[in-house]
Amino acid sequence: MKFFVDTADVAEIRDLAATGMVDGVTTNPSLIAKSGRKFLDVLAEICSVVDGPVSAEVTATDFDGMMAEAARLLEVASNVAIKVPLTWDGLKTCKALSSKGTQVNVTLCFSPAQALLAAKAGAAFISPFVGRLDDISEDGMALIEDIRRIYDNYPGFTTEILVASIRHPLHVVQSAKIGADVATLPPAVLRQLALHPLTDKGLAAFLADWQKTGQSITAAT
Ligand code: G3P
Repeated sequence: MKFFVDTADVAEIRDLAATGMVDGVTTNPSLIAKSGRKFLDVLAEICSVVDGPVSAEVTATDFDGMMAEAARLLEVASNVAIKVPLTWDGLKTCKALSSKGTQVNVTLCFSPAQALLAAKAGAAFISPFVGRLDDISEDGMALIEDIRRIYDNYPGFTTEILVASIRHPLHVVQSAKIGADVATLPPAVLRQLALHPLTDKGLAAFLADWQKTGQSITAAT
């Protein structure tokens, strides 16, 4: 499973990229606004930190506008993936860009039917928002299961399931059990994945017992 970081906070991206666990980044207009920085500047910096795909979302809602914005965004770096909303203009843009070899991430997906259209449009990634479905008492993970089942019926589909709107580690584990290709994680959730109280307790016990030996692995003998 690939892990993308879902943020435009470059300091967070740098810190997490140093762990070797970051395979890409996703941003959206809200995350860019939260960064307080100019979009093209922060996008260029993110693309310089991470080698993998960096999703940059268009803000136009019409095909011509989306294509014009995509062209500008693609000038920033070679690892920019264009993010478009799951609308008919977004799907038309996805088809046009993907047919020219551009990676497209189709976002704001909330149904299997939408995911089917994105795959037919040649999307590199589909972004189903599991957290926002859970937030309204629908089952976000059921959508991931449905999309996995549909995509597996058609070997010609190359779209990767990029689980988004993740709220906690269980979303990640459940997505991995289903066989989603990518999870895009808020920085805090990525950090949470490694944590367990019994690991902390066990390590403390090991170190306490080791200290009693008075030994040092690296000290000169
Ligand atoms: O990548 C999409 C993600 O940022 C949406 O998450 O928490 O706003 O539902 P959220």
